[in-house]
Amino acid sequence: MNAKTAIIGGTGLYAMLGNFETTGREIVNTPYGEPSSPLVHVETPNGEALFIARHGFTHRLPPHSINYRANIWALKNAGAGRILAVNAVGSMRDDCPPAALALPEQLIDYSWGRAHSFFCDDQQPVVHVDFTRPYSDGLRKTLAEAGEACGISLIQDAVYGCTQGPRLETAAEIRRLMRDGCDLVGMTGMPEAALARELEMDYASIAVVANWAAGYRSGEITMEQIQTHLQQGMSRVETLLTEFLNR
Ligand code: HPA
Repeated sequence: MNAKTAIIGGTGLYAMLGNFETTGREIVNTPYGEPSSPLVHVETPNGEALFIARHGFTHRLPPHSINYRANIWALKNAGAGRILAVNAVGSMRDDCPPAALALPEQLIDYSWGRAHSFFCDDQQPVVHVDFTRPYSDGLRKTLAEAGEACGISLIQDAVYGCTQGPRLETAAEIRRLMRDGCDLVGMTGMPEAALARELEMDYASIAVVANWAAGYRSGEITMEQIQTHLQQGMSRVETLLTEFLNR
């Protein structure tokens, strides 16, 4: 059987499910505990795809409380071979304004205290996966082609910095991330990407810019601004993913 495509939906992506026929909703138990949401099975022209809501369908889980291992394990167990992850971000790049979309190419992990590996107990031998290129180039290319086909521009050379949250960053923290070479900042990209690599699944992130990062422009960041930009960005993510799944 061909490997399935899975989508890990961030904030506000649930409407997209309406574009496909839902064939099942499955509550999964894993050796790592409960995933964030039931797995939703949908029918696409290319076979079955899977969907999981990273924060839960009622958006109850903050980034540091998400059971990333249970989510990735559940998707693997259900036959997923590739994951398209949608992540809200703040931007530190003029050419990537609020509501824009990007396909990060690299990442730096500043998160801490999250269960970040499947290889924790006695290992014979200890496993160190290669993570030189954290995102699948093949998936990024197919996403870029899908974007081109539906007129959605995607920044393709961005570096994603993963912070712990749930608070937003200080201006000095953002200046530090920029000195490190980060272009985007979010709270949910890790350990998800590394866990997918450990289970040998292709993984790419679609980053949706919710706001300028702290101190990058003047003024406070409000939840209202974030919601407005996310809504605009997510409707383009829906178009992009629908095009991808119909290919
Ligand atoms: N920082 C971290 N995560 C985020 C941001 C931000 O500014 N915006 C959306 N997710």
